[in-house]
Amino acid sequence: MSHPPERFSRTLLARLIQADRFIGWLGQLDFERALVLTSDAWKVAAGGVPPHCFLLAAPVGAEPVEIFLLRVTGAAEVPADPELRAKLETFKGRSPVAGPGGTVEEFQFGLLQCRVLGTFYLQAGQLRLGSDVENYAVAAGWAVHRPGGAALEAIVNYLSPERLAASREEARRLGLAGDLPHFSIGTVRYASTERRRRSEPAGLAEFHLNAVDFLARRTAVLGMTRTGKSNTVKQLVSVVKRTGAGAQLKIGQIIYDLNGEYANANQQDQGSIAGVFPADTVRYRMFPTPGFEVILNNFFRQIAEGHSTLRGLIEGGKLPRSADLEAFLTMDFTEPDKETCSSDYEFQRQAAMFNLKVAAYQALLVRAGYELPAGFKFAFEVQPGIRNKVNPAVDPANGLTAQQAIEWFQLVRQIQDELVTSTGKSWVEPDTNVLINLLLQENDQGGYIPGYRLLQPFKDYHAPNRSTDVCDEIYHHLVNGRIVILDLSVGDPVQRERLSKRIARHILRNSMAAFNAGQHPPHIVIYVEEAHNLVGRHEPLTGIWPTIAKEGAKARLAFVYATQEVSSIHPSILANTENILAMHLNNHHEIGELAKYYDFGDFAASLIRAQDVGFARIKTLSNPFVIPVQINRFDPEQAK
Ligand SMILES: Nc1ncnc2c1ncn2[C@@H]1O[C@H](COP(=O)(O)OP(=O)(O)O)[C@@H](O)[C@H]1O
Ligand SMILES: [Mg+2]
Repeated sequence: MSHPPERFSRTLLARLIQADRFIGWLGQLDFERALVLTSDAWKVAAGGVPPHCFLLAAPVGAEPVEIFLLRVTGAAEVPADPELRAKLETFKGRSPVAGPGGTVEEFQFGLLQCRVLGTFYLQAGQLRLGSDVENYAVAAGWAVHRPGGAALEAIVNYLSPERLAASREEARRLGLAGDLPHFSIGTVRYASTERRRRSEPAGLAEFHLNAVDFLARRTAVLGMTRTGKSNTVKQLVSVVKRTGAGAQLKIGQIIYDLNGEYANANQQDQGSIAGVFPADTVRYRMFPTPGFEVILNNFFRQIAEGHSTLRGLIEGGKLPRSADLEAFLTMDFTEPDKETCSSDYEFQRQAAMFNLKVAAYQALLVRAGYELPAGFKFAFEVQPGIRNKVNPAVDPANGLTAQQAIEWFQLVRQIQDELVTSTGKSWVEPDTNVLINLLLQENDQGGYIPGYRLLQPFKDYHAPNRSTDVCDEIYHHLVNGRIVILDLSVGDPVQRERLSKRIARHILRNSMAAFNAGQHPPHIVIYVEEAHNLVGRHEPLTGIWPTIAKEGAKARLAFVYATQEVSSIHPSILANTENILAMHLNNHHEIGELAKYYDFGDFAASLIRAQDVGFARIKTLSNPFVIPVQINRFDPEQAK
């Protein structure tokens, strides 16, 4: 299917008007509001006129030059102005454009209050929608119709030529070749009670999402619990997936799945994302589970990562501080770099000292009870002079068991004063010395310190079976266009928070680095729920989530956030959110916040009243106004 402007020819303007959907006469119009005279009989013939219904007003008889687009906002009282009343009276006597003729009973008449959404007109053969009305003085007495089917689809999927050009430009920049990808996610829906009309699927107008609106943009999915936010997110994931597949473009998606609903098919939902795209989905959990990768790192292999995790945990906890612990926290486990060493010899010396430090750290982990990876051996080079002083019978380069390594460090400590370099300095460098202190629970003055015991509570953060950094691995999946689901429904909340942030930071850092280096960062869409906790109004804007929300777009990071607490979202993030999909909210405070944006105010009452699942009011970057849509239930079969 192509976009509406292409779907319709020059006579489109006339075609928007469907004669059999006449509902009344335009009584009065100004820049903002319109008054429409209608009758029960006309309304019934056109299928009813629910609140928020789109209406079109056009002159009778002649080919229209312009057509006004209205939205019903409620019923209106008979106006006080005698002139207007007289005019309305004369309209009552006119024969309708189509539909039931004959005399209409006086009591059947009523007035509709409408908002003016804009004016459709043709320019250079293109359908255009101006957001204001110019000629309103002449419009009294124009016929008003309720658009349906193709005409309604043209209205709700309308893209201005400017927006279309901008979208194409954007698509080109994003690497999407061909026509703009867009997908139906639901059908126009006005009222909560629409039993009759919704049972006629042929008459429903499809609402399409333009994928370009979502890539490298911000999207809010708002609504109370169980109003269909997660279902909407699944639709978005599937739209993005299909966009990527259609354009042969890799678009990574990562879902922070707090409730485990995207990872697993359960009884309540028909399908999980993992079930629909099994080959392209990787699931992670915080502890080993069949079918899932673990989110954790192997502390014996990803030294710097593991150490930074420990640092975060210790700094976040209330552990008694000591000089050795402080020194441990500020330790740097960056490997020596050949480029920055003055000579090969210097590099080898630094590498040997680094390996020794790492071995002392690993021995410390072992003593604290961290499980060794299978087949792990301690192996590090020690120059013969030193080696022979420590224990001539043991060469650590040949491989030591954990127990042997710990004993070797004990011996080092016993004769430490004798272990000096050719320049007279201690052979044991300060960091390594601190690690040995912690390993042996003894400070430089010979006093007792808790040492390795401080690391014991964090054993569960270590994954003995993993061979690469989990953040690198996840980023790699995203670069390859995979869907990564972080199932955060199980595991310790503190750990969950830390890992979530660390992964987010890694994604931002890598994508920003690519951007800053003048490369094309990969396309990544990040989905988070309970967003008020992450981008809340009391969060510092420098935190990782606000930074992604604010600046991620540069680095091609799209951010989709779901919450029921609109008022808790940081105002500067909500204000910069290009797409808003709002479902039922239960109080005026939240609605008030939303009503500040676009024409959501028109829907304030219905958003509170109607609790229907998946009944969304949608404003995307492309749509000039809010469109009420019943979002389709995520259908695994169709998505496949
Ligand atoms: N558009 C929809 N049409 C039909 N059923 C839906 C729709 N959206 C959600 N549901 C169903 O309603 C329930 C709650 O939806 P969910 O998306 O989990 O809500 P939330 O994430 O807001 O708590 C689920 O069982 C889901 O399958
Ligand atoms: Mg949910």
